[in-house]
Amino acid sequence: MVDFLGDLRRTDYCGKLRASDVDREVVLMGWVQRRRDHGGLIFVDLRDREGIAQVVFNPEVNPEVHAKAHKIRSEYVLLVKGHVVMRPPESVNADMDTGEIEVQTRELRILNVAENPPFLIEDDVEISENVRLKYRYLDLRRPRLQRNLILRHNVAKAVRTYLDNQGFIEIETPVLTRSTPEGARDYLVPSRVNPGRFYALPQSPQLFKQLLMISGFDRYFQIVRCFRDEDLRMDRQPEFTQIDVEMSFIGVEDIQRMMEGMMTVIFREVLGIDLSLPFPVLSYDEALDRYGIDKPDIRFGLELKEISDLVRDSEFGIFREVVAEKGIVKGITVKGGAALSRKEVDELVAFAQEYRAQGLSWAKMVSEGWQSPIAKFFGESLKNAITERMAAEEGDLMLFVAADRAIVNHTLANMRLRLGQQLDLIRSETYQFVWIRDFPLLEYSEEEGRFVAVHHPFTAPRDEDIPMLEDHPEDVKAKSYDLVLNGMEIGGGSIRNHIKEVQAMVFRKLGIGEEEANKRFGFLMEALEFGTPPHGGIAFGFDRIVMILSGSESIREVIAFPKTQKATCPLTEAPTEVDPKQLDELSIKVKPIS
Ligand code: AMO
Repeated sequence: MVDFLGDLRRTDYCGKLRASDVDREVVLMGWVQRRRDHGGLIFVDLRDREGIAQVVFNPEVNPEVHAKAHKIRSEYVLLVKGHVVMRPPESVNADMDTGEIEVQTRELRILNVAENPPFLIEDDVEISENVRLKYRYLDLRRPRLQRNLILRHNVAKAVRTYLDNQGFIEIETPVLTRSTPEGARDYLVPSRVNPGRFYALPQSPQLFKQLLMISGFDRYFQIVRCFRDEDLRMDRQPEFTQIDVEMSFIGVEDIQRMMEGMMTVIFREVLGIDLSLPFPVLSYDEALDRYGIDKPDIRFGLELKEISDLVRDSEFGIFREVVAEKGIVKGITVKGGAALSRKEVDELVAFAQEYRAQGLSWAKMVSEGWQSPIAKFFGESLKNAITERMAAEEGDLMLFVAADRAIVNHTLANMRLRLGQQLDLIRSETYQFVWIRDFPLLEYSEEEGRFVAVHHPFTAPRDEDIPMLEDHPEDVKAKSYDLVLNGMEIGGGSIRNHIKEVQAMVFRKLGIGEEEANKRFGFLMEALEFGTPPHGGIAFGFDRIVMILSGSESIREVIAFPKTQKATCPLTEAPTEVDPKQLDELSIKVKPIS
């Protein structure tokens, strides 16, 4: 039988007790981490959200309580009343925050019993993710996840306080709405009262925040759930949270400064780290040139260098032909890489091939000069010119990829990350932000046979590029920006089209004619006619920020009830089939699933 809670109330959290609490009488409530019997004494590690405290049952202090303590098992819920005492010196545990003290128990109430849990409630135990998610309420008892969710709360609190201080107003926007194009598939919700019609869950509150600018709320924010039906990865969930921001009467740099301020507050309050401002800025073109990717991890070097101009007339057929066919040749210099074994170099070649590069050419810099299968194709002066461009010295290794630009960049960007990890060049627990600016406004999609928006269709072209929109849309750069932290895109945004004609022109270039624009975005086009202020904004992946701050490997570690890679919830078993009656009410017939 279990005891009633009665009139006793918790005075302290287990994990917060310290030597300064000695002699105090405390009442603790928590779960049993484990029980040990030692020569008449019973020790229980009692756990709550703040940590663990050792409580002691001594037959000499209270024989009845001691007898009762024999019944205690793992994960039982206890109320313990007693005094905080110093531990004898030989049992002080320096690894525990509460390791100097223990609680001499005078009163014990067993508030509930528990089944044996399917896994140990401890950090660093190997458990399959499916089991963790099925018993998520137990998984969440583990100290690391408790810390992650508390950290998440503290980040949200710091964000709200900062934005409030800066005059932002938090406004909620609808969850049942219509499709906003952010590049993923929508989650649809059928309408019972409007048969055959569907709401879409928002991929972001993009259009509503723009409408709020038109309404005059010139500084808006919202910590808001977004929904995207896309392939899931470590940093993606079908429902995730954004810190969504929009401002009127501003330019790109105003948003950057405002958001740098927000990051500074988050890092100071949550990690106690002072960031140096302003964050560096790279144009999209420069990021691709130097790192091969628009979200570079700039915590380490290994930058890419292009040598197409040097090798276009060389005797090495592969380089020459690739350049003749509008491809490029780029390379990376690995400091000290000449020491890599043949096997290690072969592994790099195989790695490059995984990224659709036909091959990877290499040259080791040894005392006699180039040691390389391709050395014979290059004369001394050309070798010297390449070595100089690559800033390679004796003992280094140069790696080259020749292919079309996208493949070269993709391959070398990944090679760079791999080498950075392999050679231990990436200092963890450093935080390197970089803004990426001036993305192309549009890019041609072979798949769709038309231009698509690189950010989203409401992004403004740079003023000076508007004249090119008609004839050279591919050359137009946008007033857009991403914030990248340690190689992860944590946020992105843009200045918007507040002039209706420019918005209509962008839609036309996206292959969205007037009729379709009016059908899909008629409300926006109409609103743009009623005095729209110049405006722009940004949204951050809140889960991604918390993931980085908590040092987690996956976004699922910082979300209380996340979905699996297959977008399912093992706990509730969502998504589920529904009652045929419900489908009938919704006028929906499900095709037989083959
Ligand atoms: P964007 O689509 O770039 O911009 O999204 C902003 C940020 O949200 C995060 N994010 C995700 N996080 C977890 N799981 C996902 N599936 C996921 N998708 C995106 C990323 C990303 O940088 N409306 C625009 C913003 C604007 O223009 O103001 C938008 O949503 O960190």
